Amino acid sequence: MAFTSLGIHLLPVLVFLLSTVGVDAGAGKLCYGLQDNYYRHSCPSAESVVRRVVRANVSDPNNPLNLRFASGLVRLAFHDCFVQGCDASVLLNGPGTEKAAPVNKFLTGFEILDEAKQELEKICPGVVSCADILQYAARDSVVALNGSSWKVQGGRRDGFVSRADSAESEITSPDLDLDGLTASFNRKGLSREQMVILSGSHTAAAGHCENLVKRLYNFNSTHATDPSIPAAYAAQLKATCPQKTFNDTVFIILDVVTPFFDAGYYLTLKQHKGVFSSDQILFDDPRTRPLVESLTEDKLFEKEFGEAMRAMGAVGVKQHDGEIRKDCRKINKY
Ligand code: HEM
Ligand SMILES: *[C@@H]1O[C@H](CO)[C@@H](O)[C@H](O)[C@H]1NC(C)=O
Ligand SMILES: *[C@@H]1O[C@H](CO)[C@@H](O)[C@H](O)[C@H]1NC(C)=O
Ligand SMILES: *[C@@H]1O[C@H](CO)[C@@H](O)[C@H](O)[C@H]1NC(C)=O
Ligand SMILES: *[C@@H]1O[C@H](CO)[C@@H](O)[C@H](O)[C@H]1NC(C)=O
Repeated sequence: MAFTSLGIHLLPVLVFLLSTVGVDAGAGKLCYGLQDNYYRHSCPSAESVVRRVVRANVSDPNNPLNLRFASGLVRLAFHDCFVQGCDASVLLNGPGTEKAAPVNKFLTGFEILDEAKQELEKICPGVVSCADILQYAARDSVVALNGSSWKVQGGRRDGFVSRADSAESEITSPDLDLDGLTASFNRKGLSREQMVILSGSHTAAAGHCENLVKRLYNFNSTHATDPSIPAAYAAQLKATCPQKTFNDTVFIILDVVTPFFDAGYYLTLKQHKGVFSSDQILFDDPRTRPLVESLTEDKLFEKEFGEAMRAMGAVGVKQHDGEIRKDCRKINKY
């Protein structure tokens, strides 16, 4: 481990790690291990408080910007779990933390998590981890986007380490081919099938021009534009994203079929209108096309999506080696 390049000071971390071990050995009543309804005794309203805060902040159908925060929270869950495990490392502030990584430039939803945390600290101080709040909020966001619910496990503890370079190396790049995408998920203990299912979150999602440069203008030495994009659609994307004059406030809807959380994403892929190559390749590669075809069925997709989110939510979870942060943006003794 490269301790010298941590984005946050290490000494308080070590002190805290030692004290955590002590508490654990003595108290004996701390419960470790992921469970459904984890806070039923320690903070019975934990999940309903998160749900209320998320709803209040994302559920205005007349304000499309509010719904954008819902997508933001779903993406945050992915960007948390793939870097240091699901430990809220993506929420830490400071120079050189994950938030500073270019790949995390467009993350949103942090303020909503802060608000849920503040409410929970009032009623159950020091009990509900930021890592769990994030997973609950992602589920509640999918529901706000008209998707189906699932049971979210709790019991994650918050981590101490957050490094921009880890985010750059662990977050899956949209320019990867199917083997690259699969390898990225396999490294987290997730399968190629789970990768295809979790990509379904792009059913209610947006992207920025910056992430399309390569595919539209700089594809390879023989094709400036990815030839798998239908010409008319490529022209439309280029009009939205004129070369070299990208505007960060412009966004591209990733599912042209329906803006809500449903199987529309997979229908988009069948129309060859996947926005990123990592989207379109799921249909274009014969190894995943049959799964894409079957996921065009809403009920199947929604059921599979919840199960895959449970699996993603268990990646690299911290138990003894974590804390319950008071403020999701800072480690406690920092
Ligand atoms: C297969 C690997 C994946 C790749 C290559 C990928 C790539 C991307 C890219 C490039 C964007 C656009 C970012 C921007 O320009 O603002 C994006 C957006 C998004 N991604 Fe993914 N993603 C992947 C998997 C996932 C997973 C597993 C989830 C969650 C379960 C997810 C949820 C989202 C959401 C919700 C958005 C939209 C965020 C918003 O509207 O603000 N993605 N993704
Ligand atoms: C979330 O909702 C609450 C209550 O409606 C409001 O006070 C707060 O400003 C909202 N926060 C965000 C980030 O929109
Ligand atoms: C919301 O979901 C229900 C099924 O759960 C569906 O019948 C309805 O059409 C959806 N609404 C929209 C706007 O997608
Ligand atoms: C560029 O991509 C196209 C389409 O995938 C492919 O046919 C072509 O061989 C590629 N060119 C090079 C030089 O890799
Ligand atoms: C970026 O796009 C927004 C919305 O379309 C527009 O209001 C703004 O003027 C644009 N900014 C630049 C620098 O082009």
